[in-house]
Amino acid sequence: MDWGMKNRFSRILNAKTGRCLMLAVDHGYFQGPTTGLENLGKMVNPILPYSDALMITRGALRTWIPAETDKPVVLRVSGGQSILKELSNEIITTSIQDAVRINASAVTCSVYVGGEYEKETIGNLSQIVNEGENYGIPVLAVTAVGKEMVRDARYLGLACRICVEIGAHMVKTYYCENFEKIVEACGKVPVVIAGGKKIEEKAALEMASNAIKAGAVGVDMGRNVFQSDNPVGMIRAVRAIVHENVSVAEAYKIYQSRS
Ligand code: 5RP
Repeated sequence: MDWGMKNRFSRILNAKTGRCLMLAVDHGYFQGPTTGLENLGKMVNPILPYSDALMITRGALRTWIPAETDKPVVLRVSGGQSILKELSNEIITTSIQDAVRINASAVTCSVYVGGEYEKETIGNLSQIVNEGENYGIPVLAVTAVGKEMVRDARYLGLACRICVEIGAHMVKTYYCENFEKIVEACGKVPVVIAGGKKIEEKAALEMASNAIKAGAVGVDMGRNVFQSDNPVGMIRAVRAIVHENVSVAEAYKIYQSRS
């Protein structure tokens, strides 16, 4: 890895623990005003200090996040579809030059393995890896799962491994049983989990804990933080699991605290 690429990457992975707590708030790029993010700045700015990085689109960043933030940005550069149409029909929306202008620490796009536009989305990943290599910007590949796919280790392992083979520097996927197999399939490319749909807080903390135990380097969580009744408590709880290896019971107490 070149110096610039390494430097950007090290802003995302915490130097002490080698782990990462990313806050995902890019949902609006195909879902519009997602519950909890209607006023994105009002929700995100109070919880941002507890995260290591922010996953967001350029429009949301420029609209709601002060440029003075010291949080590294993982910039969503794909889009082009909405929840009203075929979700895998994505294009690259944001140029690498704009990612540089924004001072992005990484760029990210989704890959729909098994989806209608599988080839195009793998093409999108290839394009941003090529550009990222040119400019020293790491790429986070997101394995997006169509409704018809089963979220098991076999499918997610296939999707993640394809992202690694195309050259992604980090992979984001869903937690499932036998998650170790997915981590193994990615070799030395770090894996983070998505939170997925909002579930009960204890269950979300259990999922994060199990993923870390199975070898994930961290969590890139959205709805399970910002749709919680205590977003600050929840992000602090997830942070304690990721960086301090606390038990789920201890983390749950952190979530419940309002201080
Ligand atoms: C969609 C994305 C997301 O915006 C992100 O994964 C959502 O996070 P969460 O599932 O935790 O709400 O990358 O593919």
